[in-house]
Amino acid sequence: MQAQAWPGGRDSLTHDPALRPMSMLLVDTDVVVAALDVLAKEIVHAGRAYSAAGLSTVVTRQDVRGRGYGRLLVAAGHDAIAERGFDLGIFTCDRPLRDFYESAGWRWLPGTVLVGGTPSSPFPSDQTGFDKVTMADFFSEPAKRDRSAFLGTRVALYPGEIDKLW
Ligand SMILES: CC(C)(COP(=O)(O)OP(=O)(O)OC[C@H]1O[C@@H](n2cnc3c(N)ncnc32)[C@H](O)[C@@H]1OP(=O)(O)O)[C@@H](O)C(=O)NCCC(=O)NCCS
Repeated sequence: MQAQAWPGGRDSLTHDPALRPMSMLLVDTDVVVAALDVLAKEIVHAGRAYSAAGLSTVVTRQDVRGRGYGRLLVAAGHDAIAERGFDLGIFTCDRPLRDFYESAGWRWLPGTVLVGGTPSSPFPSDQTGFDKVTMADFFSEPAKRDRSAFLGTRVALYPGEIDKLW
């Protein structure tokens, strides 16, 4: 399903093991209908450290799109990240998908840019040719307290060269 959705769009659909990838599959009567991966790392923002996770390679099988499977799985991903004790979940998506992610529990961070890649080779979500928005939610008490520090700012995610913007 991922290879269908991103044919040649990524060098590889294998994630960096350093990001502790966890796949979630939605199965309907023995058939996988949707899939996503959760990636995780520590980040530092405004001088504070947080455990962060994000959704990656969210996909619904082409012939069953528009039936609510994607929303169900993305909502489950939201809850799994909260239950696993991460301070926050944060990722980017193409602007037209903002409503989709909001309907599954995620919140739009207006003006926030995720800086992917590495410090020496940054890969920002506002680079030319990209039209991305940042989605997030804040789960731990410290993260909830610091929520405003993530608004309208650049967040150094730096997930590396493989999952450049996870
Ligand atoms: C995005 C995706 C996972 C949604 O899965 P799905 O099972 O069809 O989602 P649902 O049926 O739960 O919800 C579909 C909703 O998302 C909206 N949506 C889906 N793709 C959209 C797009 N490209 N632009 C705008 N809205 C979109 C639908 O209009 C629908 O909204 P509605 O419920 O208000 O009618 C699926 O379209 C897909 O696999 N796309 C290709 C891969 C991709 O782009 N993944 C996202 C990476 S950030």
